[in-house]
Amino acid sequence: MKTMDKVQHWEEVYQTKSPLEVSWYEPDPQQSVDLILTAAGSSRGRIIDVGGGQSFLVDRLIDAGFAHVAVLDISNAAIEATKARLGERASNVRWIVADITQADSLGAFDIWHDRAVFHFITDAEDRQRYLDLLKRTLPIGGHFVVGTFAVGGPEKCSGLQIQQYDAAAMQETLGPSFEPVKCCQYEHMTPSGKSQLFFFGIYQRVM
Ligand SMILES: C[S@@+](CC[C@H](N)C(=O)[O-])C[C@H]1O[C@@H](n2cnc3c(N)ncnc32)[C@H](O)[C@@H]1O
Repeated sequence: MKTMDKVQHWEEVYQTKSPLEVSWYEPDPQQSVDLILTAAGSSRGRIIDVGGGQSFLVDRLIDAGFAHVAVLDISNAAIEATKARLGERASNVRWIVADITQADSLGAFDIWHDRAVFHFITDAEDRQRYLDLLKRTLPIGGHFVVGTFAVGGPEKCSGLQIQQYDAAAMQETLGPSFEPVKCCQYEHMTPSGKSQLFFFGIYQRVM
């Protein structure tokens, strides 16, 4: 899928649906927060939420005292809505509108969080560009916290094909530069009451 088509798809989603209507809505992103705090330990450094959309994660990260928080999304509408929701607190956040498979540089971050974006990247070249950028962004010792649909979970999201992962598939995709800290499954309940099986992992960049 070309960037233009992706932008069109996601802008339409965010311009036509309320945040509470989308299947990935969660009032409290506790699973992500727990894994991020595990990865962070006692530090509250630089963190980026890739494909953050209208997630409440950014609110929770500010509350938790992270010093440098960035939210990236391909949809300008999603970013603007999240900024508006945060009000004055939005000025403490770096906002980036970009296709993560096309961005050249994001600067350095200690934690890269991605819930339900990586699984949309089904094209091998796009996936390689994502992984190259991940490695350029996370220093050795940094953490990749990722949540995707699990093997046995949904096969599509927002009408788009996705790639399912389990611990073995994620490790094969990430390669030897990343070591697992924790892997788990998580059941997400959509606003319409459907259960979706997610795979979540914390990976540390080791080389
Ligand atoms: C399923 S939603 C998940 C949103 C958020 N992470 C959450 O958990 O609520 C996927 C998000 O990824 C964004 N997205 C999809 N493809 C992207 C890409 N190539 N680059 C950046 N963002 C992308 C969408 O606009 C959308 O906000």
